[in-house]
Amino acid sequence: MPGRLYRFYLDEWAGAARSAYAAGVSLGLSPGYACVDTVVVCGMGGSGAAGDYLAQLSAHYGGVPIYVVKAASVPGWVGSKSLVYAVSFSGNTRETLECAVKAYRQGAKLVAVTRGGLLGSWAKRHGVPVAFIGEAPAPRAGWPNLFYTMLGSLESLGLLRLPRSEVEESIELLGLREDAETEAGRLVDWLGTVAGGWLSIVAAEPYYPAAVRFRSELAENAKLASDASQVPEAGHNIIVGMAGRRDTALLILDPVEEPWTTILKGFAEAVGPASSYTLRLRGKGMLPKLVWATWIAGLSSTLYAERHGLDPEAIPAIKAFRRLVE
Ligand code: PA5
Repeated sequence: MPGRLYRFYLDEWAGAARSAYAAGVSLGLSPGYACVDTVVVCGMGGSGAAGDYLAQLSAHYGGVPIYVVKAASVPGWVGSKSLVYAVSFSGNTRETLECAVKAYRQGAKLVAVTRGGLLGSWAKRHGVPVAFIGEAPAPRAGWPNLFYTMLGSLESLGLLRLPRSEVEESIELLGLREDAETEAGRLVDWLGTVAGGWLSIVAAEPYYPAAVRFRSELAENAKLASDASQVPEAGHNIIVGMAGRRDTALLILDPVEEPWTTILKGFAEAVGPASSYTLRLRGKGMLPKLVWATWIAGLSSTLYAERHGLDPEAIPAIKAFRRLVE
């Protein structure tokens, strides 16, 4: 019997994405929020991950540059010409709260994206607009809530320009539940054969945010350690360490587009891994492909946990770390 987290990824993501996008579009930020020359997304873990995707989308489709901060401080250049999203699912992450306070003091146009918590109440006290996002069983499972809220808001401000058809296609893909379950099941079979070796998730440079997200999902939900490699960069350094081992396993995120498919194939041949698995990313454009990879990451990591008698929701090490820094 699939657990709550798996069911949420499977059954709720499409609806969560659609409502979050609509909420983002109608957030009602004042016109001054459109008069910026940079966007900064501050957030940690499952919340900060949404920023990686937005930064990649602005580089690819066009818009103002988007920077991601996964730390407790915003850069000194953040000021009145910057739009800053402070993103924390719980609203209680120290690093993100500190970023919000600093960005506010530096005069940035600030928005809090959260379920509430300390960030929500601080923002309300200081007159900072808050995008309250929908419920999810864990911050990482709230990825569509966080990502599509910011996407809708950036598009409505004219700061990010995406073809509407790609946004629609990305959400429609999340309705292909049977295909996604089959894909996740196959991947979990393979993961079971390579656990314990050096697992690397390899993506072409524009799809790297999905590899990083895959790594985090496998760690938090499946308790599996892996790393994320970006091609072509990984072909200039880490490839040497990979090729020198007998237990290297590659999970290749293939966007099924040239030149990337050929380059990824060449990279794998040069590594000569003990085992490899190619996940073909569904969809026509970059956004749908990124979303497909992200969805399969969530489904396969929770399914892996369940098949191995692990609790995908339990993250004791993160809790211990948070106690240290809070
Ligand atoms: O998914 C998780 O549980 C974590 O990666 C959290 O996202 C991370 O600890 C930050 O917490 P929050 O998203 O509530 O700011």
